[in-house]
Amino acid sequence: MSASVVKRIAHLRAEIEKHNHQYYVLDDPLISDAEFDVMFRELQTLEVQYPDLATADSPTQRVGAAPLKSFAEVVHRTPMLSLNNAFNDEEVRAFDARVCETLGVTVVEYAVEPKFDGLAITLTYRDGMFAQGATRGDGSMGEDVTQNLRTVRTIPLRLEKPVPFIEIRGEVLMFKRDFAALNRQQSDRGDKMFANPRNAAAGSLRQLDSRITASRHLSFFAYGAGAVEDSSLVEWNGLPDTHGAQMEWLQKLGLPVPQERRVVRGVDGLLAYYHEISEQRSKLPYDIDGVVYKVNGIAQQKRLGYVSRAPRFAIAHKFPAEEAHTTVLDIEVQVGRTGVLTPVARLAPVFVGGVTVTNATLHNEEELRRKDIRIGDTVIVRRAGDVIPEVVRALVERRPADAREFVMPCICPSCGAHVTKLPDEAAWRCSGGLFCPAQRKQALLHFASRRALDIEGLGDKLVEQLVDQQLVHTPADIYKLDLAMLANLERMGEKSAHNLLGAIEHSKQTTLARFIYALGIRNVGETTAKELARHFGTLDNFIAADEARLQHVPDVGPVVAQCITAFFAEQHNCEVVAQLRASGVSWAEHEGLQVEVLPLSGKTFVLTGTLSINRDEAKERLEKLGAKVSGSVSKKTDYVVAGAEAGSKLSKAQELKVEVLDEQQFLQLLKENS
Ligand code: IVH
Repeated sequence: MSASVVKRIAHLRAEIEKHNHQYYVLDDPLISDAEFDVMFRELQTLEVQYPDLATADSPTQRVGAAPLKSFAEVVHRTPMLSLNNAFNDEEVRAFDARVCETLGVTVVEYAVEPKFDGLAITLTYRDGMFAQGATRGDGSMGEDVTQNLRTVRTIPLRLEKPVPFIEIRGEVLMFKRDFAALNRQQSDRGDKMFANPRNAAAGSLRQLDSRITASRHLSFFAYGAGAVEDSSLVEWNGLPDTHGAQMEWLQKLGLPVPQERRVVRGVDGLLAYYHEISEQRSKLPYDIDGVVYKVNGIAQQKRLGYVSRAPRFAIAHKFPAEEAHTTVLDIEVQVGRTGVLTPVARLAPVFVGGVTVTNATLHNEEELRRKDIRIGDTVIVRRAGDVIPEVVRALVERRPADAREFVMPCICPSCGAHVTKLPDEAAWRCSGGLFCPAQRKQALLHFASRRALDIEGLGDKLVEQLVDQQLVHTPADIYKLDLAMLANLERMGEKSAHNLLGAIEHSKQTTLARFIYALGIRNVGETTAKELARHFGTLDNFIAADEARLQHVPDVGPVVAQCITAFFAEQHNCEVVAQLRASGVSWAEHEGLQVEVLPLSGKTFVLTGTLSINRDEAKERLEKLGAKVSGSVSKKTDYVVAGAEAGSKLSKAQELKVEVLDEQQFLQLLKENS
């Protein structure tokens, strides 16, 4: 075996890990996926050719290995401790006062971090190489999950410096977006869904088959160093002397550390950080359940020491519980814009995640039956970030003898029309259409909503009154309102009435896309409305289109086309549209455009690589011919135009067998169709 092969393998491993780090930790890829794949495959091939050179820490091992029978036990060199908790400002002040008193100072410097809602793990590196990873277990002994942790892309297999020996403590978690994708996949396959990202992370990490872990997109953040007493540490002068500096140092070693960490002074600094992170919480890409405060100076930490299994120098300031117990007082049904009947649990008020919750959706009858939730049950209610509260499950062991099962009504509670269910749908629907006041209210709210006609001030309380007092039946009636009609409404002063009429007047000038969206045609969301407006240019063209022509529009399939034609087949819908136009609702039309008859109508192009004509010009020329230009390649792409140095989009096109045009062929196509 030649020295050059050894060198090449070492080079490839270092490069691949560098790009893994760029991609997964820094979120800043330097090369295309295709270029990465080429290196990866070369390394795989070399390792097969030279099996003696294959090592456990090669990036090729991140894909997982043969299943284990069980996990081996690992005794932690230094115990994995837990933290004491503070649940309010007073408890934080008391913590700070104790720290100041013990240290004999008036103000203390703290390192502060998010408290990750995942699983604690410890990573051991020897001579800079990842050697072992274990779960916390009971704090003294955990499980050896090395194989699984190797598959976590943000855990470096090799540190930037060959540190003789170090243990890293941190948290494995699943980002919210990866959790959502995993649950979508689980549901598509009919597999069990996970209740939250923490359960998903735990379930993925404790897999005997590490190939399953590899497929799950776990992440990792380091929050400190574990065993550091190893004598060999002396050679590199030990760790920096503050926690904050240690975190910087861990980052330099290539370990992912939270960006949201800070160093603050005194208790005011702690509480300000708590409020800052509380506000950011719902926007963070991962779940946290509080923040952690640590005395920054390591010498000060040592002086404070430990009490039983928790340090005296650190505390977790927890957010209010996001899950709470309460009772189901009743289950009612709500009627939505399209008539869907949604069972909603009326709950005994309960404080969850910072707000009082009194209602929670039960989604649909099937879901309610699956969870077996009954009136009178004690249930767990969960509220995550800004998401609407939901009932997680019933505590069956606490079910009272008189708990009642919910029965879906056979007539609509709002209008009395009968309730129907399509065979392939989970939802029951009211058949009352726009005669049903509940549906009418929702339809009006949708019409006035921000992304539709955007009538400021026309909210649910007002719509409720307008419909109940029979002042408004259809969206067209909104434009017939005047001061006298508004004067008798509750909480409607003269000024608000003027403002509302102003907003209604203002809404008349709109766009065709907004207007189509505002009509509330089933299955026509904002994006589809935009496509329809772009394609047909005028409302009359759109209304006149049959199902076949509608399906020329991107994203419009047979179901959507049928919903559109069914909508305009209803005389009363056409009347509402005519009345709206007669009241002055208008938009700029593109009468002459007739996009659908242009030579490249319905064709989607993706431009990649360097072209000799400017990218914007190429795009404009294509669009003038009726084509759509998209940024990413999918099965719906018709042509990929590949200029010089085309990268991952070209390989994706080849993979999906999408037709690829070189610049010459592209220019020819423009010429032929112009
Ligand atoms: S420090 C000596 N920092 O919280 C204390 N822990 O209740 C070591 N956790 O099991 C812990 N985020 O898994 C620390 N930024 C953070 C943390 C954090 C989450 C977890 C940790 C531990 C639990 C302690």
